[in-house]
Amino acid sequence: MGAFEPGTSPVRVRAAGKVNIYLGVGELQDDGYHELATAFQALSLFEEVTATAADDFSLTVESDGFIDVSDVPVDESNLALRAARLLAESAGVSAGVHLHIRKGVPVAGGMGGGSADAAAALVACDALWDTRQSSAQLHELAARLGADVPFALLGGTAIGTGRGDELTPALTQGRFDWVLVPSDAGMSTPQVYGALDEIRVRHRADLPVVPRRPRVDDEVLHALRAGDSRRLAEALGNDLQVAALSLRPDLADTIDAGLRAGALAGIVSGSGPTIALLCADATAALAVRDELALVGYVGVHAYGPVPGARVV
Ligand code: C5P
Repeated sequence: MGAFEPGTSPVRVRAAGKVNIYLGVGELQDDGYHELATAFQALSLFEEVTATAADDFSLTVESDGFIDVSDVPVDESNLALRAARLLAESAGVSAGVHLHIRKGVPVAGGMGGGSADAAAALVACDALWDTRQSSAQLHELAARLGADVPFALLGGTAIGTGRGDELTPALTQGRFDWVLVPSDAGMSTPQVYGALDEIRVRHRADLPVVPRRPRVDDEVLHALRAGDSRRLAEALGNDLQVAALSLRPDLADTIDAGLRAGALAGIVSGSGPTIALLCADATAALAVRDELALVGYVGVHAYGPVPGARVV
């Protein structure tokens, strides 16, 4: 690595939240993870992480005004802080860092906000410390931090297999417009996966066999390539949705309200509880958001794909 200059100016990195356009969940593996086949899309809701040179490791969090940050841990369990420490360890850096996170992605919402923070912290600290990690090295560190962190580095639209961390960029055309409806209370990802496992055991006789290796439906790839939001609306899917709805039945009402407001389709985003409503275009999305506000739902418009974590 290059010499570390204590006077180095702060580095600011932006990383996007995501929606899982399609999420196929396979069997539970021995390591406690499920084999996935997912299509991620990075959306224009951004986390901003500013890394400032320091002797030790510390973190502060701020909201962009829309997000409730009271549940974000600021201790050692914070994924961004863990990312900074992991990079320091693996690159042999003895300095610390102060991270300041400005949150624009719902907390514990199934939109990968914490993963975006971790990806942004890796990129910011790599620049601050001049550790010059290759993309492959950053990807490897990201995968150790969490299944969704590699995608937050990459951005765009991508197919994820394995734990969701083996990525292949997907061809897309144009942009897709979404309305995201967050919930007041977050949801625990392991709890949602656990609920799915239980449902699959309980209803084994009535359900199709759970695939060992799930696949992303070809229709998803065709619709993305064609830039056809109506076609994509028909192809959206999330195996975790049934589990998220079993824990939060009210989310079905949010989806219904979105459809009544004019969305093409609605799904639970990742493990929830954020609801992602796909709309025909930006104008339609704004109309859906405004229509939802009239019946008491606060939604936010975002579009994808947008780039992964990068210095601004
Ligand atoms: O990797 P990450 O910390 O984001 O995963 C959180 C939890 O989600 C895991 O501990 C596991 O319970 C569940 N998970 C899973 N299969 C995946 C990804 C996550 O079961 N492919």
